[in-house]
Amino acid sequence: MFVILWRALNAWVALVTVATVVIYIAYTMLVTEWRIKFRRAMNEQDSRASTRAIDSLLNYETVKYFGNEEHEARRFDAAMRGYEQASVKSQTSLALLNVGQAVIISLGLSAVMLMTANGIVAGTLSIGTFVMANTYLMQLYQPLGFFGFVYREIKQSLIDMEKMFDLLSEDPHVADSPKANALEIKGGEISFDGVHFHYDNRRPILTGVSFRVPAGKTVAVVGPSGSGKSTLGRLLYRFYDVTGGAVRIDGQDIREVTQESLRACIGVVPQDTVLFNETIYYNIAYGKPNATPAEVEHAARMAHVHDFIMAMPDGYQTLVGERGLKLSGGEKQRVAIARTVIKDPAILLLDEATSALDSHTEREIQRNLREIAEGRTTLCIAHRLSTVVDADEILVLDGGTVVERGRHAALLAMNGRYAEMWRRQQESREDDGNLSAPVLVT
Ligand SMILES: Nc1ncnc2c1ncn2[C@@H]1O[C@H](COP(=O)(O)OP(=O)(O)O)[C@@H](O)[C@H]1O
Ligand SMILES: [Mg+2]
Repeated sequence: MFVILWRALNAWVALVTVATVVIYIAYTMLVTEWRIKFRRAMNEQDSRASTRAIDSLLNYETVKYFGNEEHEARRFDAAMRGYEQASVKSQTSLALLNVGQAVIISLGLSAVMLMTANGIVAGTLSIGTFVMANTYLMQLYQPLGFFGFVYREIKQSLIDMEKMFDLLSEDPHVADSPKANALEIKGGEISFDGVHFHYDNRRPILTGVSFRVPAGKTVAVVGPSGSGKSTLGRLLYRFYDVTGGAVRIDGQDIREVTQESLRACIGVVPQDTVLFNETIYYNIAYGKPNATPAEVEHAARMAHVHDFIMAMPDGYQTLVGERGLKLSGGEKQRVAIARTVIKDPAILLLDEATSALDSHTEREIQRNLREIAEGRTTLCIAHRLSTVVDADEILVLDGGTVVERGRHAALLAMNGRYAEMWRRQQESREDDGNLSAPVLVT
């Protein structure tokens, strides 16, 4: 374009055109760069507002218990106001960008038109040249405007995707080793060999924990709150890697097998199970996505929840509400147990699976769990000692190590930590007026 204009008209016209293009591009890039912070602030405020909304909606019961609806509404309002301000700034700066671009193009066009018009007046240029210059400039400026638009859109989209790129470049805590094979399950023997672990290196949680759960046996772990019992489960599931020692299943270090094969063979029943806001059928079948209705029913019977489900007006099609809030604690736990049963894992991990329940329900569910644990390697983390009296071995975890181990009767006879915990729990049971002493199996 520069050469054509120079040839057909003169060097000045060509120079003005080039200058217009250069100024336009520089202006677009500078202003777009300057606008980035508004767009970023807008995205940040947007995600802050939605995080607050989700947080207060999920915890609506807590909000109501404390009568803090006003407080939550104000917090949301403040976040929305931040979003509003940021988006107004973003829009205003966009308008500024557009106006500036239009002004630059108009000035460039007007300058060339004036120069050619002067040429016509002076008699050095023809009207045809004037029309030609105008047509050429239009052909130039239209794509230029489009370029400005595309540049801005791409920049903006890259900013919107920034968080996603950050997330993608995040290194996972736990990664499969390149030569990882699938775990070969024979009986499901678990062994912890001198396991050391810390979440934060200033505070060790486990300092040399060793134990073995022979295939098909049950080992219980008890100990004060915060002693690292659930951490044992997380290490077995490989949510974290041990910082010393090793965890093995059937002799295979779990760091050398694929996470998928490892997790496929372990079933977990945690203390606070959550269900999906779907039907009971969906929630049970979740343990095995291609399960047949007969399998779902069998699992429900194993978890002793089938009769309860059939008594509901909608049966298996009953919706459970967010996180399962339409079911009672015991019902929810039974559905969660059915979900684990259908997965049919070789290893069962019960993490205080019944400690949130009343003692009557607890006893019933413990009985179900015992049936289900039959023939599976079970690691049972318990708060109430009465639920672990018949375990094959009981470990007392405290201060990062196993301080006592043995069967219930032997531990009582030792008259140490376990015996003390047992006595304390027996006393509090009597205080509760709950006189049904647990059965002692020795
Ligand atoms: N993700 C985490 N980051 C940092 N510390 C943690 C984390 N999870 C648990 N802890 C700490 O580790 C300790 C052991 O936790 P846990 O294994 O859950 O105890 P418990 O024996 O009660 O199940 C606790 O003191 C807890 O504060
Ligand atoms: Mg715990």
